[in-house]
Amino acid sequence: MFSDNPDQKNIIELKKISQSYDGGKTWIMKDCDFIIEDKPDQGQFVVILGMSGSGKSTLLRYIAGLQEPTLGQVHVNGKAVGEKERVSMVFQQYSSLPWFTVLENVGLALQFQGVSKKERDERAMELIKLVGLEGHENKFAQYPTLSGGQLQRVAIARSLLANPKILLMDEPFGALDIKTRLTMQDLLTKIWHKFQSTIIFVTHDISEAVYLADDIYILKSQPSKFVEHIHVDLPLERDRTTKRDPKYTALVHLVEDKMIAVSNLD
Ligand SMILES: Nc1ncnc2c1ncn2[C@@H]1O[C@H](COP(=O)(O)OP(=O)(O)O)[C@@H](O)[C@H]1O
Ligand SMILES: [Mg+2]
Repeated sequence: MFSDNPDQKNIIELKKISQSYDGGKTWIMKDCDFIIEDKPDQGQFVVILGMSGSGKSTLLRYIAGLQEPTLGQVHVNGKAVGEKERVSMVFQQYSSLPWFTVLENVGLALQFQGVSKKERDERAMELIKLVGLEGHENKFAQYPTLSGGQLQRVAIARSLLANPKILLMDEPFGALDIKTRLTMQDLLTKIWHKFQSTIIFVTHDISEAVYLADDIYILKSQPSKFVEHIHVDLPLERDRTTKRDPKYTALVHLVEDKMIAVSNLD
């Protein structure tokens, strides 16, 4: 397919991506670039905002290697996305395998790599503890045995074990109640700092976007393309007091204005 790109300074590089589903008569995405520099000692939290149908999930599918664009190049860690360069994804819908236990779900990627059960279970348990699911490891990963928030913790732990450097999250907290959602936001902040991960996160919630992000990118639709980049100039360490910071409030208003302006472009 695509050739490798030795330029390692970008962890994610989508160049001149175009997508058509009707043989080129109409293009839902046209010459779209999305370039995320690698920050190995720090990691980063990147949020994608855009109206429904603007191509957010499609972009994540390209990075995860679940779909190839009609035209353009997709590189992760300087390598063409494919068998070797897989990134897993956390979806809004619970994406765990309900006939497997929490422990088995989290260790799944290692099972595919042929790692022994003992090592798999040990490494999976570390992450199960990290996401606060200790004591639940032998339960089946299904609702209502586990709550919505707990199932998303399973998906996050599984994704981290597969590849702690990149986490793709497609509206992961959309179905959660507000309290669980806020707890999960803080869990993600902790994970980002611990693993220095690059997290690519899709949400519709602007206050969530500003709270979590280093950088926000806004996608317009018809055809899809990034039209705005906002750097979130807030301290890296965030907590509830961040939301009382006038800079935070000003950023929420700025992003809201830009979203409205972008939606008027369509
Ligand atoms: N298989 C497909 N055939 C035709 N159009 C599709 C297909 N998959 C997605 N699309 C279109 O691509 C656009 C982007 O979809 P998507 O990435 O799901 O948007 P978002 O996640 O931002 O809501 C939408 O207009 C959608 O209708
Ligand atoms: Mg979507």
